[in-house]
Amino acid sequence: MRERVEIVEMAPRDGLQNEKRLIATADKIALVDALSQVGFQRIEVASFVSPKWVPQMADAAEVLAGITRVPGVRYSALTPNMKGLEGAMAARVDGVAVFASASEGFSQANLNCSIAESLERFRPVVEAAKAANLPVRGYVSMVTDCPFDGPTPPAKVARVVAHLRVMGCDEVSLGDTVGQARPESITAMLEAVLQEMEPSQLAGHFHDTAGRALENIAASLALGLRVFDAAAGGLGGCPYAPGAAGNVATEAVANHLAWLGYDTGLDREKLTEAAALARAIKGGKA
Ligand code: HMG
Ligand code: MG
Repeated sequence: MRERVEIVEMAPRDGLQNEKRLIATADKIALVDALSQVGFQRIEVASFVSPKWVPQMADAAEVLAGITRVPGVRYSALTPNMKGLEGAMAARVDGVAVFASASEGFSQANLNCSIAESLERFRPVVEAAKAANLPVRGYVSMVTDCPFDGPTPPAKVARVVAHLRVMGCDEVSLGDTVGQARPESITAMLEAVLQEMEPSQLAGHFHDTAGRALENIAASLALGLRVFDAAAGGLGGCPYAPGAAGNVATEAVANHLAWLGYDTGLDREKLTEAAALARAIKGGKA
């Protein structure tokens, strides 16, 4: 039996959040429905964030209300504060995520507060989500490089990961937000983070700006990680991270993992169709 590696699908959220042109809610629903056929266990559908900050995610509730939920798939959303959690719970999400940064510069740019303030803000969110039996993911951005603060010391990442673990996050996803990491910097970062959290509770979230995401996944696999985030069609970027290109493409990760001998459980034909739809939606041709 080949060992299982999970790909968590990001296209509807990380993939679309940075698009300047407002994408029709129906197109977002069609994308999630196409992705639901691929075999993912988790799809990140939307963000319950301020619509002034990320206008593209303003229809999060409508998207969640419109999708056809497939049993066995968990549909999740980003929730930066209590207001976001309330919206997400009303939309019947199956999981939520809070998102912190390992660099102060990006914390200010993305959340309008310091790292410490963001962690304080997340505490009641995580507590209320857990009380409602919702799995909670924590993100840490800029885990190796930051366009505002420069290289990120691994110890800083480990500290934020420890806070998220103590708070109750079930899993922490480590973000190379601007896609500048190298296998060596990923390894150094993970060696620090693994002092704080088991590899089974960690995920790699690599943007592919410099074309090294697959190498960074290989470096993470070597240290025991078995969950990776990716976006069908390679869509994405973060509106508050200058220079951030898309998430690594799900189809590229699925191919690479198969070549390395892992099983992702994904239907490759359905994935090809969903990736084509994702690219068409981004290109305004859906
Ligand atoms: P703020 O301006 O400091 O917040 O923003 P505020 O509490 O003063 O509220 C300002 C306005 O937003 C108010 O409305 C609130 O009601 C409203 P007004 O009174 O002015 O009309 N508001 C909300 N509306 C809807 N839903 C909410 C919400 N919260 C406040 N949840 C805030 C602070 C956190 C809200 C803001 O900075 C924000 O929304 N940031 C989100 C930025 C974002 O979504 N970035 C992309 C996702 S992170 C990412 O991509 C990285 C990741 O992929 C990993 C990686 O790659 O590294 C996860
Ligand atoms: Mg991201």
